[in-house]
Amino acid sequence: MNLEVKTQNTYNENLNWRYATKKFDAQKKISQEDLNNLLESIQLTASSYGLQPYEVIVVTNPEIREQLKAAAWNQSQVAEASHLIVFASLKSVSEDYLDSYLNNIAETRNVSREDLKGMEDMIKNTTLQLPADIQQNWAAKQAYIALGNLLSAAANMKIDTCPMEGFDAKKFDEILGLEERNLTTAVIAPIGYRSEEDPYQHLAKVRKAKKDLIEII
Ligand SMILES: Cc1cc2nc3c(=O)[nH]c(=O)nc-3n(C[C@H](O)[C@H](O)[C@H](O)COP(=O)(O)O)c2cc1C
Repeated sequence: MNLEVKTQNTYNENLNWRYATKKFDAQKKISQEDLNNLLESIQLTASSYGLQPYEVIVVTNPEIREQLKAAAWNQSQVAEASHLIVFASLKSVSEDYLDSYLNNIAETRNVSREDLKGMEDMIKNTTLQLPADIQQNWAAKQAYIALGNLLSAAANMKIDTCPMEGFDAKKFDEILGLEERNLTTAVIAPIGYRSEEDPYQHLAKVRKAKKDLIEII
């Protein structure tokens, strides 16, 4: 099968435009409206059962940003970008958490909790039985889907991002007080506008050839 793309696709053009920005323009800030749109893209992200087992922290405070930078191998993006988005995933999933989700469905769709019994049993039987480390890993995977959505949404608004897992999660959790909220830092993304001086924007994209990435059977 021929996997060559001939027609123009703005979405993919924007994915080609984006790159993991190393140097942000510290003077350029994302407008409140653009930020709200990006946060809504995160909110609309799909997740397993719809449970969204994570929270998102938007860090603007410069002192906190400096502390976080030190806990991220001094990568300048953490402090220089317009905003820092922290994806904090659940350390464990409780029955209370699942109940509040089921209550949200009942309220939003105007159905009774009894109507959701089949779904409740399925969700509770699968998630609550997972060992703690698997629960945590599962929650982090969901947060990564939101990260991916943020990167694409931002690219399509010509806003720069840098997905990052080069940080000390324990230190991030301490600085942000996440431990006591049953949360842990899964992944982060500084967002903003690239500096003209960032040489990485001029590098050609390195990707696997489609034939090595995609199999049609
Ligand atoms: C989960 C994840 C973690 C990453 N961590 C870092 C990081 O800590 N620092 C950094 O500069 N880039 C980081 N990157 C960026 C990757 O190196 C980059 O996305 C990859 O080389 C592809 O290049 P491109 O995004 O510029 O197209 C990370 C990317 C992902 C998806």
